[in-house]
Amino acid sequence: MLKGIHTSLSRREFVKGAAAISASSLLVNPGAVFAAGPETIKLGLIGCGGRGSGALENCIAAAKHLGLNTEVVALADYFMERAVGTAQKVGAPEDRCHAGADAYKKVVASNADVVLMATPPNFRPIHFEAAVNAGKHVFMEKPVAIDPPGARKIMASGKQALEKKLAVVAGTQRRHQAAYLQTAHAIANGAIGKLMGGQIWWCGGALWYRTRNEGESDADYMVRNWVSFTEMSGDHIVEQHVHNIDVANWYIGRVPESALGFGGRARRQTGNQYDFFSVDFDYGNDVHIHSMCRQIDGCYNRTSEYLVGTDGAVWGTGPGQGGYKKSIQLPEFEEFGGPYVQEHVDLLKSIVDGKPINEAHNVAESTLSGIMGRISAYTGQNVRWRELMDESLNSPWYNLTLAATGEDFEKGTVVAPPDDVVAIPGSGPRQRRS
Ligand SMILES: NC(=O)c1ccc[n+]([C@@H]2O[C@H](COP(=O)([O-])OP(=O)(O)OC[C@H]3O[C@@H](n4cnc5c(N)ncnc54)[C@H](O)[C@@H]3O)[C@@H](O)[C@H]2O)c1
Repeated sequence: MLKGIHTSLSRREFVKGAAAISASSLLVNPGAVFAAGPETIKLGLIGCGGRGSGALENCIAAAKHLGLNTEVVALADYFMERAVGTAQKVGAPEDRCHAGADAYKKVVASNADVVLMATPPNFRPIHFEAAVNAGKHVFMEKPVAIDPPGARKIMASGKQALEKKLAVVAGTQRRHQAAYLQTAHAIANGAIGKLMGGQIWWCGGALWYRTRNEGESDADYMVRNWVSFTEMSGDHIVEQHVHNIDVANWYIGRVPESALGFGGRARRQTGNQYDFFSVDFDYGNDVHIHSMCRQIDGCYNRTSEYLVGTDGAVWGTGPGQGGYKKSIQLPEFEEFGGPYVQEHVDLLKSIVDGKPINEAHNVAESTLSGIMGRISAYTGQNVRWRELMDESLNSPWYNLTLAATGEDFEKGTVVAPPDDVVAIPGSGPRQRRS
């Protein structure tokens, strides 16, 4: 069993399986070198849908790459058939499957070393807190919250994870993708001069949606149709566009000070989300990022990031037209099996090396940045970061909690918001002036 940061991995097996791991990383953590056979990492999964199954397979592939064995010890989903389907995919016995809104407790109470989380994001703050309290290493899908209290809860649990030396990797996989890491290196080393601003996009087609079944409970309907309800997904500026917002925050090196935006709904039939957003994120010091996201079929699509400096420009994945004007040596970064596997390689390697990565704060900040843009678009107001982080400002948005909450699902007190009733800008509270 993987106890905290120590493993009983044989040096021979470890080095053979993990060509990318340097000998020096073993030397700094002598606890990683033992005489026994290859270590078995026990995995638990909460949320066995498309991404949950995918993340579990990615984690198993990453472990194999590092010469580590894996065992899937517990799986939880709201619906039993989903948990069983994933268990069958990875060859885990069905008696390790748990169902219901409180099934996550079984995973957290299991002997899993690493817990993977891929439910809709409204549940993440509760699940993450429980996993950290139980001393688990965590992989959690983005986004990690849907409202300001949820994002702050992730930050608080992330801090606890840091104190407990637990590894936390988030599904903002661009931070594990070689081309993005090279661009980050180029910007940090002055390849485009002083960064002045840019644009980020997630303009794509409509996602799936589900209509309500005859006699279906509010809770089941919201879970099945989660990408249509802001209370479950945060809306698509948070759910999808968080990837691009995360890149902007990462490259600029700070969070936006405020957001002023708008959006609307044109084609959706169910839930209460918008179809498009356009937001100006003001990062202070004259740096602005224009963010656009849209989920409508038949339109021009672009998912990318473009940042402009005093001496050139970059796309998220490399230099803009004309290349880098300043000659720069870009380091090579490992990207085994693509970023979805590499993020698990980085997670597991950080555990084995005794140098746990902790991405909780970054992903919480990127999630909260998207939430700030959404609040601005929904209300029509200029929303400032400190209003979401500083209780003493008495902002109406500091305690904005979207219901049904994760706790409501556990208590069985879910009331679904009506379909097709959406936020109307100008009808809510205005920003404070001081
Ligand atoms: N990093 C990426 O590129 C990427 C890609 C796709 C999805 N995602 C993220 O992964 C998460 C899941 O997305 P998905 O596409 O797998 O959705 P999905 O609908 O396929 O799966 C979600 C699963 O969670 C289950 N679930 C819902 N509430 C639950 C609860 N309280 N406890 C346990 N299980 C519960 C559902 O029954 C479902 O099986 C989302 O946060 C999404 O944004 C990330």
